[in-house]
Amino acid sequence: MKFTNAITSLFFLFAATMFSLVAAAPLARLQSRDVYTPPVLYPHAGTVWKVGARHNVTWDNSDPPVNITNPIGQILLRKGDFTLDGPLASGFNLTAGRVEVTVPHVKPGHDYVIVLFGDSGDWSHKFTITH
Ligand SMILES: *[C@@H]1O[C@H](CO)[C@@H](O)[C@H](O)[C@H]1NC(C)=O
Ligand SMILES: *[C@@H]1O[C@H](CO)[C@@H](O)[C@H](O)[C@H]1NC(C)=O
Ligand SMILES: *[C@@H]1O[C@H](CO)[C@@H](O)[C@H](O)[C@H]1NC(C)=O
Repeated sequence: MKFTNAITSLFFLFAATMFSLVAAAPLARLQSRDVYTPPVLYPHAGTVWKVGARHNVTWDNSDPPVNITNPIGQILLRKGDFTLDGPLASGFNLTAGRVEVTVPHVKPGHDYVIVLFGDSGDWSHKFTITH
């Protein structure tokens, strides 16, 4: 009886160890390759863009993780609740901290937002586009 208990508890110890090893594996992967969503610096609140003009969208690239899962960026333009078709820029290096865009022919508004991907997408403040 005592012997059986010892075997049983050894088995559970073994099973628990295996389980925690398996459970820890995905976590270790996440830590070694970080999702990088740097904050947008420009455009910001108070920025006014004219249709057709070229501007550098900039973001804070001062603190990138060592291993970035998503080094290639994409920039979308939103107005209110709508995202405009087609990215303003894509395929650029997120570590660069800036990318040049041309303001597309959209209607004037004060509720435009730049979304920078990365992974989850980082939103700029609302800014204005005029004609
Ligand atoms: C970055 O990735 C390399 C190679 O996969 C790895 O050796 C290193 O530990 C990782 N660094 C960090 C801080 O996660
Ligand atoms: C964007 O930044 C680059 C590097 O600083 C500069 O050469 C370029 O003229 C800028 N573009 C605009 C539209 O300001
Ligand atoms: C992005 O730029 C950094 C720094 O210049 C460079 O080390 C890295 O290889 C580049 N990544 C890609 C995917 O071009």
